[in-house]
Amino acid sequence: MSFDLILFGGTGDLTWRKLMPALFQAFRHGKLPPDGRILGVARDERSDEEYRAYIHERFPEVEPSKRPSEEEFARFAQLLHYRRMDLSQPEDYAGLKRWIGERSPEVVVLFLATSPHLFPVIVGQLGAAGLNGPNVRVVLEKPLGHELASAQEINRVVRASFREEQALRIDHYLGKPAVQNLMALRFGNALFEPLWRRESIANIQITLAEGIGVGTRGDFYDKTGALRDMIQNHALQLLTMIAMEPPSTSDADAIRDEKLKVLKSLKPFTPESVARDVVRGQYKAGSVDGKAVAGYLDEVKVPADSRTETFVALRIEVQNWRWAGVPFYLRTGKRLAARDAQIVVNFRPVPHPIFQGGGSAANKLVIKLQPEDGLELHLLAAKGSSSGDERLSPVSLDLDFDKAFAAQRVGGYERLLMDAIAGRLNLFVRSDEQEQAWRFVGPVLDAWEADSAGPRPYAAGGWGPAAASALVARDGNAWAEEQ
Ligand code: BG6
Repeated sequence: MSFDLILFGGTGDLTWRKLMPALFQAFRHGKLPPDGRILGVARDERSDEEYRAYIHERFPEVEPSKRPSEEEFARFAQLLHYRRMDLSQPEDYAGLKRWIGERSPEVVVLFLATSPHLFPVIVGQLGAAGLNGPNVRVVLEKPLGHELASAQEINRVVRASFREEQALRIDHYLGKPAVQNLMALRFGNALFEPLWRRESIANIQITLAEGIGVGTRGDFYDKTGALRDMIQNHALQLLTMIAMEPPSTSDADAIRDEKLKVLKSLKPFTPESVARDVVRGQYKAGSVDGKAVAGYLDEVKVPADSRTETFVALRIEVQNWRWAGVPFYLRTGKRLAARDAQIVVNFRPVPHPIFQGGGSAANKLVIKLQPEDGLELHLLAAKGSSSGDERLSPVSLDLDFDKAFAAQRVGGYERLLMDAIAGRLNLFVRSDEQEQAWRFVGPVLDAWEADSAGPRPYAAGGWGPAAASALVARDGNAWAEEQ
């Protein structure tokens, strides 16, 4: 299949940090269709050769296993091209159209890796230039909007030039192998389905913890905060995958219809429930991995009086027959104890215990997204000692998917870029899902705006403010690391 992949923002962070390494991996794995061109688009004047050198120079900054050898890069570089464009100029889009027309590839993917404030301009110009034919797909990177109104405005502009199935909204968490595995676990195995409901499950916890701070992104992050950066998209998408009903087919829309239903079932927040069920925090100085780190207010380009949250924990209810009464606890934060993304499904304890021991431990299923990609099933077992000791001990069955499927596991962006070229839409977010997620977080943003208290401080290197533990303890539960 012949394709042209156009990267708007071709010299930006996302391009060299994530997209180029992912494209190179796909190339290395023989997954990139051979008859393709990758075109970086940016404002400065550069030749193809200069662009290739620019990308090459940045590879040492990506993780070692993803760096090409000189020989590999030389071959990969043949695919790379560059074009200077002023994104407000119609004639530059006409020029791009001519460049694409030189080969008339079967597929054209336009990846908007620019600042989102440019999306309306770019999308409008693409439409006006006729770069929106049926073989064209446009890929949009988050943040898609700042709140519901701006998200709707972006969608309105996109819809004026592209059909829904041509607009691919990326949530890179959906590209992670563990997330696809969650679908496989639920809908490829009959084992868990009878248990996947309120009768058997006590609560579900989604943790997206990061050890890193905001680094050089202070400017962006301070206008964004953890709720917009991680919860509105990644964490809510994971929640939909956990809570959705089995779709009738694996078609993109069958899956997205079910995910949307979950988002529509979430109990809306009110100012009172935000005060009770949501905790926001901001990191102070502390130590992560034995290294002293500064507080958020001392990060570059963060105002000294910032009230932006770098941590948030929420108690969410899904109002339907399957999940009524089962709390879903979500939390995310920067400068926490570790990089750790996981979903913990806590099952109910046995109705009538006849053994001693095991503490309060009940069965739980841990779906690990990163750093490892795996699954743990925690059970209680007898030690089998000769003393007649009938106390139970927790043990776990561990599945390490990295080990089991090492050769086939690919990174999120690699998977999503290949899906974009192939036109597989399952792992992209539909506009109605995205808008519904904004609708859900809106009242939290509004309540915070009106609340003079601001975020609670927490020491870098811990698990966030104590109030996050209290939020869960109120229901008689505990976060995974406290169990
Ligand atoms: C991005 C956020 O969407 O996800 C970042 O903007 C965050 O703030 C990142 O660090 C986390 O992604 P991952 O794949 O490293 O968990």
